[in-house]
Amino acid sequence: MDQALPKSESVTGIPPRRTFAIISHPDAGKTTLTEKLLLFGGAIREAGMVKARQDRRQTRSDWMKIERQRGISVTSSVMTFEFGGAVFNLLDTPGHEDFSEDTYRTLTAVDSAVMVIDAAKGIELQTKKLFEVCRLRNIPITTFINKIDREGQNAFALLDEIADTLALDICPMVWPVGMGGLFKGCYDLRNDKLVSAKKPGEENAPGDFAIPADQKAQLDEDVELIRAAYPEFDQEAYGEGHLTPVYFGSALKDFSVRELLEGLVANAPPPQPRATDQREVAPEEKPVSGFVFKVQANMDPQHRDRIAFTRICSGRFTRGMKLTHSRTGKPMAIQAPIFFFAQDRSLAEEAYPGDIIGIPNHGTLRVGDTLTEGEKLRFTGIPDFAPEILRRVRLTDPMKTKQMRKALEDLAEEGVTQVFRPMTGADWIVGVVGMLQLDVLGSRIEQEYNVPIGFDPAPFDTARWIFSEDTARLKFFIEVNKSAMSEDRDGAPVYLVRNAWELNRMTENFPEITFSATRERL
Ligand code: G4P
Repeated sequence: MDQALPKSESVTGIPPRRTFAIISHPDAGKTTLTEKLLLFGGAIREAGMVKARQDRRQTRSDWMKIERQRGISVTSSVMTFEFGGAVFNLLDTPGHEDFSEDTYRTLTAVDSAVMVIDAAKGIELQTKKLFEVCRLRNIPITTFINKIDREGQNAFALLDEIADTLALDICPMVWPVGMGGLFKGCYDLRNDKLVSAKKPGEENAPGDFAIPADQKAQLDEDVELIRAAYPEFDQEAYGEGHLTPVYFGSALKDFSVRELLEGLVANAPPPQPRATDQREVAPEEKPVSGFVFKVQANMDPQHRDRIAFTRICSGRFTRGMKLTHSRTGKPMAIQAPIFFFAQDRSLAEEAYPGDIIGIPNHGTLRVGDTLTEGEKLRFTGIPDFAPEILRRVRLTDPMKTKQMRKALEDLAEEGVTQVFRPMTGADWIVGVVGMLQLDVLGSRIEQEYNVPIGFDPAPFDTARWIFSEDTARLKFFIEVNKSAMSEDRDGAPVYLVRNAWELNRMTENFPEITFSATRERL
């Protein structure tokens, strides 16, 4: 096994897992870096397991039509590859702000994150938002400052910005030798050597390259300053999310991609224990357990399949295994679990903690669901968020009510949009966190279900799930506010809020009721 692996991991016989996501502001280079990581990793799990499946590839890209048109990534996907003796599960997260809810859930399934920053722009809004989510969940962050082959900000200024804006300790790992027009290559601070771009398969290519005397003097000065000003890499501080190792690089030109991967193998956390409503589940435990963090409907429109992306949290999963679905208590035989690769899928014969398997199903599995070998527990921390935009659904063809209902419910299962059924009246209300989701919803319902729909303004600003131990009072509240009451798709009562003033008033008048902006998945 690879020498770079932490000792405790090299004895188990199973390649260690590194399950991570890339967070960034759009355009910082996430897609480019992802491609390079896959390229360096060969993008296959085990030689011979992946067969080219042209048909699937075709459908998958059709399904992503809207993403192509928009030039953004709408849905999270999972890609598995190997590097340095470790199996990497890379969970892609949409960079667009309207999809932060989906991203949030994806981050419940990772053990660490790579933050990509554009060297010219520094920390941008979306990076900061996503970083906050990581901090909330104590997810360790590795920083990749991208595009150093272009004119960017001063490297020290960038480090200061990260330290100040995100309140993080910084540990530079790879340093740029010049930037933009003067860019020559990188300096590996851990191994004290110059490194050039090495493509996959060029491991043994000489790392050295010539730099002019003035740049050499500048580099020496920089290195001296770094050694004096920044702490040594501290595994514990990184693991707890207080320190971020920083790699300056160019995803486009292959600089620091290899060093980043090596750093992740050596330092990124292996699968971590996960919280449940009963106790913490450790990855070493024998019984298999996992949770669904994303459901994607209609990945293959011909088959109307739904894939529940499930993170294995403990045990050794094998295909055909019978697992108990915690929400219903019913057993499920997992006959056709799937692994995802860059452009392909394959049957998952076995999977280990940290792995993501896709479970095809017809709507049984929902976001937040737990699967175990029988133990009654539920993984926690995968919430629904109150929508910030509510719209009435307008059906242009009244003959298609049934199909519309099915479409809305199907797509709500994916967790990107929510549907609310008002307790009075026949209209359906959809809730989203951002406008773009509405466009995506409309376009998908039209394309995938052949139901043309429109959205009309609804007189509500947001929604609140209501809870109370005092059932009589809750009943009373629902009774007197019937015109603003609805049910989510699980039948949980939701109060549709007209404005902030009204919400304030209700909170004051009904102190025994909790008006919650989030709801833990049941
Ligand atoms: P995103 O997924 O974070 O939105 O970013 P993406 O990788 O699509 O990169 C955004 C743009 O930045 C692309 O240029 C890409 O080629 C460029 N880029 C990414 N990494 C680097 C880098 O290390 N150096 C330089 N110089 N450019 C980089 P584009 O012109 O928008 O698209 P394209 O036509 O080149 O694909």
